[in-house]
Amino acid sequence: MDRNGANANGARERYEVQEHDVLVIGAGGAGLRAAVAAADNGLSVGIVTKSLLGKAHTVMAEGGIAAALGNVDSEDGWQTHFMDTMKSGKFINDWQMAEIFAKEAPQRVYELEQWGALFNRTDRGGISQRPFGAHTYRRLCHVGDRTGLELIRTMQEKVLTTESKVYMETTVTKLFKKDGRVVGALAYTRESGKFIYIKAKAVVMATGGWGRIFEVTSNSWEGTGDGVVLSYDAGADLVDMEMMQFHPTGMVWPPGVRGLLVTEGVRGEGGLLKNAEGERYMERYDPQRMELSSRDVVARANYTEVQEGRGTEHGGVALDITHLGYDNIIKKLPTMHEQFLKLADIDIAREPMEVFPTVHYTMGGVKVDPETCASSVPGLYAAGEVAGGLHGANRLGGNSLSDLLVFGRRAGEGASAYVLESTHSAGTDEREVETEIGRVLLPFENKAGTESPYLIQQELQSVMMEHANLMRTEDSLKEGLGKVLGLKDRLEGLRVQGSRLFNPGWHTAQDVRYLVQISEIILRTALERKERRGAQWRLDYDGPDEELGRVNFIVSKDGQGEIGIEPREIPPMPEHLSELFREKVVDSAGGERRGAESQF
Ligand code: FUM
Repeated sequence: MDRNGANANGARERYEVQEHDVLVIGAGGAGLRAAVAAADNGLSVGIVTKSLLGKAHTVMAEGGIAAALGNVDSEDGWQTHFMDTMKSGKFINDWQMAEIFAKEAPQRVYELEQWGALFNRTDRGGISQRPFGAHTYRRLCHVGDRTGLELIRTMQEKVLTTESKVYMETTVTKLFKKDGRVVGALAYTRESGKFIYIKAKAVVMATGGWGRIFEVTSNSWEGTGDGVVLSYDAGADLVDMEMMQFHPTGMVWPPGVRGLLVTEGVRGEGGLLKNAEGERYMERYDPQRMELSSRDVVARANYTEVQEGRGTEHGGVALDITHLGYDNIIKKLPTMHEQFLKLADIDIAREPMEVFPTVHYTMGGVKVDPETCASSVPGLYAAGEVAGGLHGANRLGGNSLSDLLVFGRRAGEGASAYVLESTHSAGTDEREVETEIGRVLLPFENKAGTESPYLIQQELQSVMMEHANLMRTEDSLKEGLGKVLGLKDRLEGLRVQGSRLFNPGWHTAQDVRYLVQISEIILRTALERKERRGAQWRLDYDGPDEELGRVNFIVSKDGQGEIGIEPREIPPMPEHLSELFREKVVDSAGGERRGAESQF
């Protein structure tokens, strides 16, 4: 159906109208799992993806999906997975999410297998599980080093068996609300620039993270955080936005691939980190867990070695897996072998890789109800990386893939229950649609504008690299905030040329608005958390703060449309969970340790 609307200059603008019960925004693992759940409930589902179906940051979780199947280490169970997740998150995680997650992850892995995922096998035919940093047991179910790809392939095939309608290469610019509920969205197709007004009774946000606010990241161009800003603009609470994960190992050379992920699976398979002096320096940072310490610890160690002058030729550290031998490398890490050979002319069976931390993941995000994934705005649900809470101050490798499936399903179920119980109709006053179309087209009409979206994006990325990196100080964060506010002012002057057909400048003008908004939120929350905790490593504080260990920072738009930040007390853990940390736990090597020990 076509409608006529008016843009900001009063010219008539045609747009298409679609309607679904549930609109899923994002087509990574969480979005696809949510869509399957909603379709299974007999609802009409639309899936919007900015990119192509199957191209999502999910594929960048290469080394495995964490679930306590106990196939390799039979002592493993949900309790240990729960404790590992909480300890790694430095106890500011939403413990209710962590409990649900640890209990349900095995079911989601077996379901994925039933739907066609081809996992590596143990000698006895079970799903193979490998070690990963700070997981007590071998817990990472894997498909070589392309587990995320296999997850997406499987979920994509599954989604195609449903009636869901997929809108590919389509960008959402706004969520619409009526009577306080989310009731639809405006989107445009990137190829033609045509607008689509999608009415929906509920929306599931599953757009992933925002690594693109940094220059060096494992995220591809899609990682611009659209969903977190759309949700925030619609009134949703966000949680712990200061927590950004730097993966310890990204490529450093050649410059064109700087930041590309080098899977933790390399260290899981025995990869050794060495500095330019040949020293296995993890001995100095975490002598017990060495290369398999938690990500925040290894990332800081790699960073420090280079900062202190013990880096390799191109400013990294060496990651050596040569001792595994060519055949095993090809069997267990085929993608890494190909990636280094093709992109860096390095045969990792013969020489070490050069690696350095790369921005990989966002622990913060939309605050959700653990059971249903409902946000604080009726009709809006969120799952996967765009949602916050589960991972606290630092995510364990491999927990993202199981997160996507556990909470993707729950978001789909939560949205379905809401739609089935409610009587409201989808859609809003169409004047709002017209106003939004006018806003999105402004950069074409801004004749006095002189600002290039590319330049603002580039400047923002270097500001965040300099001021919100993996070690932070108040002075530097404040200086960064000043620079970001300067960029925010310049957004007014954005100007794009040409037509709406295939216009990347115009797309970037949308993205940069999200990127600037998120950066401001991150800098402001990083200023509020005055301590060292996981990914928030403040050099101007000595360690963790006991009081701050009991709060999350909640961000929401205040009455004036400004960023409001409020510390919110984390509810105390119930006895059946807190007692786990008091018990003695026997590890796979027979050693006893206290459950409560933790590394900040
Ligand atoms: O290193 C990796 O394979 C990434 C895994 C993850 O982020 O979960």
